[in-house]
Amino acid sequence: MKNILVTGGAGFIGSHTCLALLEKGFNVFIIDSFENSSERVIKRILEAYKSNKNNLNINMKVFKGNLCDKYFIKEVFNRIKNENKEIHGVIHFAGFKAVAESFVEPLYYWQNNVVGTINLLEIMNEFNCNNLVFSSSATVYETKDNCLLNESSKFGPINPYGNTKYSIEMLLKDLFQSSAKKWKLASLRYFNPIGAHSSGLLGEDPKDTPNNIFPLIANTALGTQKILKIYGNDWPTKDGTPVRDYIHVMDLAECHLKVLKFLINSEPEILYLNVGTGIGTSVLDLVKTFEKVNNVKIPFVFEKRRIGDGSFLVADNSLLISKMNINYFRSIEDMCRDGWKWKQLNPKGY
Ligand code: UD1
Repeated sequence: MKNILVTGGAGFIGSHTCLALLEKGFNVFIIDSFENSSERVIKRILEAYKSNKNNLNINMKVFKGNLCDKYFIKEVFNRIKNENKEIHGVIHFAGFKAVAESFVEPLYYWQNNVVGTINLLEIMNEFNCNNLVFSSSATVYETKDNCLLNESSKFGPINPYGNTKYSIEMLLKDLFQSSAKKWKLASLRYFNPIGAHSSGLLGEDPKDTPNNIFPLIANTALGTQKILKIYGNDWPTKDGTPVRDYIHVMDLAECHLKVLKFLINSEPEILYLNVGTGIGTSVLDLVKTFEKVNNVKIPFVFEKRRIGDGSFLVADNSLLISKMNINYFRSIEDMCRDGWKWKQLNPKGY
């Protein structure tokens, strides 16, 4: 049985990935500071796991702490080693991700995201643990209107959050090219993850007022937000609203498992993969689909464009599909249905 360390395992994507790992029989070790997530997530992961009667053995341990504390990370590695367990791979989600906040607190973002990652890599190196899946973002790319982005598209992050993701990718590249040819590394460039686990037990729970479209649509459907603001109806797209590549959070979670297994069985290598469905959906399409599948009303107004937005951000995902043998993605309908179920069952979050 493989032992996997998941940093940021209580976050939105992290929690869904931990559940997917448990379902596939991995031992899961979570590191989370719980600064931006609730400790109740852990119970929910276990509840969702146990809701399948065939799942008897729970193999999950949680370590509360911050990656900025190198001694804490070392202690975690030592404790796992003292159980005579080897860590076969690390999935590294921990990091801050609020774009607007990253402009206000760049030092905080660089410290937490970049220094935290350096600390993690140093300890991994010390313990000869060299398999890492890193949670990167399509935000590393320069946006190019109406063109699919592939892994060789031009870089051009436009905010401090994006700069930290890009810098970590550069760091991983340097590490891979170093003399010690032992690292197996993957940077997954996520497009727009939305939705929730189909049980309604796990979902997205932003601590402050959300900025991303999906939680705002759900809040508007629920009535906790009166009206949805759609930023711009004059973009060069089919209906004038921006187009994004939304991916179901469980598809994204399952991708991590595939990539991890691939790395564990490969020779040292560095992979960059776009993780999106390759399907572009406009903001209006998303709103209409949410209304239709859930039989709700989402009142909206058009506002002027939001600074920093682009019109079109869609993945060329052919590399992901061919390398990881993926033949199915959940639909926008599934994302809207599952996301609404989560919101209805958990109107105030966890
Ligand atoms: C944002 C981040 C990106 C991050 C991603 C996933 C910015 C500029 N980018 O991407 O770095 O990786 O989230 O967390 O913040 N929209 C509305 N009304 C709203 C909110 C959003 O119309 O109230 C529109 C936006 O204009 C955009 C689309 O919905 O066209 C998606 O927005 P959002 O969910 O914030 O994601 P991105 O901006 O694509």
